[in-house]
Amino acid sequence: MAKEMGSNISRAASLFEIEEYFNEDYFHFGDVVNPPEISGRQAGVIWNLLSLKQGSSVLELGCGYGRITNRLAEKGARVTGLDISPILLSKAEADAVERGVNVEYVLGDMRSLPWQDRFDAAFLWYTTFGYFDDEDNEKVLREAAFSLGKGGRLLIGHANRFAFLRYKSPIYVVQRNDDLRIDIMSNDVLNDRRNLERIIVRDGCVRRTHLSFRQYGFSEFVRMLRSAGFETVEAYGEEAEALTSDSSQLVVVARK
Ligand SMILES: C[S@@+](CC[C@H](N)C(=O)[O-])C[C@H]1O[C@@H](n2cnc3c(N)ncnc32)[C@H](O)[C@@H]1O
Repeated sequence: MAKEMGSNISRAASLFEIEEYFNEDYFHFGDVVNPPEISGRQAGVIWNLLSLKQGSSVLELGCGYGRITNRLAEKGARVTGLDISPILLSKAEADAVERGVNVEYVLGDMRSLPWQDRFDAAFLWYTTFGYFDDEDNEKVLREAAFSLGKGGRLLIGHANRFAFLRYKSPIYVVQRNDDLRIDIMSNDVLNDRRNLERIIVRDGCVRRTHLSFRQYGFSEFVRMLRSAGFETVEAYGEEAEALTSDSSQLVVVARK
C-alpha cells in the first residue's frame, strides 16, 4: 500500500539543483534535442497562440539560452527574457547579437518579478513550470498575472502526463559527437512529480545532476490560473491542435 512517507522521497527542486542542472552542459546538447527548425516551429506556435503582433511586448519566464525569445524578436515582438542561470543568459545574449535583435535579458527568479501591468503576453515553455512545491508554483502564476496588463495572455507548455506515461523506457539518451547525455526518468505517484537523473559524459568526465517537476493536469491549471486572476483558460496540443491524450505537450493559454 502506498504510504504518505513517499512525500519525503520526492520533493521540490532546490535552487541549487536547478542551477546545477541548467548549466553549460544543458546548452551543449541543446541544438541536438531542439534543432533550429524545431525551435522555429515552436516560436511560430507560441506567436499564434499568444496572438502576438509586430511591437507586442512579451516576457519569457525561464528563457534559457534564448532559442525562443530571439526568434520572437526576429518576428517583430518586443521581448524580455528572464532566467536564473547566468551561463544560459550569456548564451542568449550572444545569440541575440549574432541575429541582430534587441532583447532585454534579466537575471532573476520567476517567483519574484519586478514588473506590474507591463506585458501583453508572457509564457513558460518546454516544461519550465512546476519545479517548486505547489505554493511556490502558484506564486509564479500570480507574479506572471501581475506583470501582465488587462487582457494579457499567459501560455504554459507542460508535459502531457497521459502521453508521457505511455513511454515504457524510462531512459533517454542524447549524443553529440562523442559526448552523451543520459536521462533516467521516474514517476512519483504519491506526489504527482516526475524525477530526472541526468548523467553527462563529456570530454572524459562524468557529471550527475537531478531535477524534479510537478506533473499538473489541465483541471489543476484551470483552478490555479483562475485563482491567480485569469478569466479564461484553454488547452491545446503542441502544434496548437485540440488536446488529446496522445498530444506530447499540454499547452495552456490563459487570459487576464
Ligand atoms: C527546460 S529550460 C527551458 C528553457 C527555454 N524556455 C526553452 O524553451 O529552451 C528551463 C529554464 O528555466 C530556468 N529556471 C529554472 N528555475 C527558474 C527560476 N526560479 N527563475 C527563473 N528561471 C528559472 C532554467 O535556468 C532554464 O533555463
